[in-house]
Amino acid sequence: MPKTLVLGIETSCDDTSVALVKSSGEVVSLKKWTADDDHIVFGGIIPERASRNHLKSLTPLIEKILQENNLEPKDLKGLAVTNRPGLIGSLIVGVTTAQTLAELLDLPLVGVNHLEGHLLSPWLFENKEKPKDLMHSYPQISLIVSGGHTQLVLIESLGSYKILGRTLDDAVGEALDKFSNIVGMGFPGGPKVDEAAKSGDKKAYDFPRPMMRTEDYQFSFSGLKAAGARTVEGILKTKKDLTGNEVNNLCASYLESAVEVLSFKLKKALEEFKPKVFTVVGGVSANSQLRSRMENLSKETGIPYESAKLKYCTDNGAMIGLAGALRIENDLVPEEQSVLKTYARSQPEDFR
Ligand code: KG4
Ligand code: ZN
Repeated sequence: MPKTLVLGIETSCDDTSVALVKSSGEVVSLKKWTADDDHIVFGGIIPERASRNHLKSLTPLIEKILQENNLEPKDLKGLAVTNRPGLIGSLIVGVTTAQTLAELLDLPLVGVNHLEGHLLSPWLFENKEKPKDLMHSYPQISLIVSGGHTQLVLIESLGSYKILGRTLDDAVGEALDKFSNIVGMGFPGGPKVDEAAKSGDKKAYDFPRPMMRTEDYQFSFSGLKAAGARTVEGILKTKKDLTGNEVNNLCASYLESAVEVLSFKLKKALEEFKPKVFTVVGGVSANSQLRSRMENLSKETGIPYESAKLKYCTDNGAMIGLAGALRIENDLVPEEQSVLKTYARSQPEDFR
């Protein structure tokens, strides 16, 4: 059976991305426009600028991807677009564009939960590679670690997700981004902390391991962030700047604290649910310290671990396209009205 080919559109935050994806997970093409220069100037995402940037970049990206791949609308089985959760203005640009195209081309349209996209990202591959075997093996346990979310999810089947726990305050990515500012490295925080930590000593500073002793699957990172800020303040009482070595050690110790809590709770879930495979997804899953710890956790528990390629860890249209292609193929397309409903926060009952 030919695999369903879908155009995926992702505009939930600051990056504009489109992709052509098959339901097998094969990415035919991926295009991304990043607004990093904007953030370097402003020190963060400005929602109004993000939506204006999407307006400028989305249509040219769609035109380009279809032209470059010599595709006509009849070659597509449908369109998939992130409609929740995210920055409302950014979501509206993607959804309105997708809705217009779907009507013009007479194609089905799937509204995708951004987090479902991340959950499917480990299964994306490129045409010369083999599809990944465990994509349809359930149950799966997945740890979502991004700029906006930290959740531990039990995946019972495609479209059936149980959130076991989530952060009560900051997401891990947010805690890393803020810490990067605190130590003076600025944007983009996560990758900079990752790089600095590689030359640092994880034991140099003793940061708290929040929620390690609780019996549940909840997380909290605001206390870690506050401890990080206090430690830096303490060092800067007697001098003007941190040395490069201090920054490296601070980053390695801070990251170690976050990685240890994440691994601890994940291990507990692996022991309780004994999944066929576990995955770690979202922007922070690009982190080298976290990735190597996950390899060890897989060896220790005997449970296979899959992660996305680095370019599919952060927000991208391919993961949204895959969610759409699988939903079309498995007859799990929500009714059209719900595609148009964009909203900033994902409700647990909506995560399906
Ligand atoms: O999934 P994502 O692209 O956007 C959201 O849905 O939030 O995640 C972005 C987050 C940011 O906080 C960024 O600092 C973090 O992912 N990130 C990393 C790394 N690359 C991106 N954090 C740690 N190490 C990295 N290598
Ligand atoms: Zn994301």
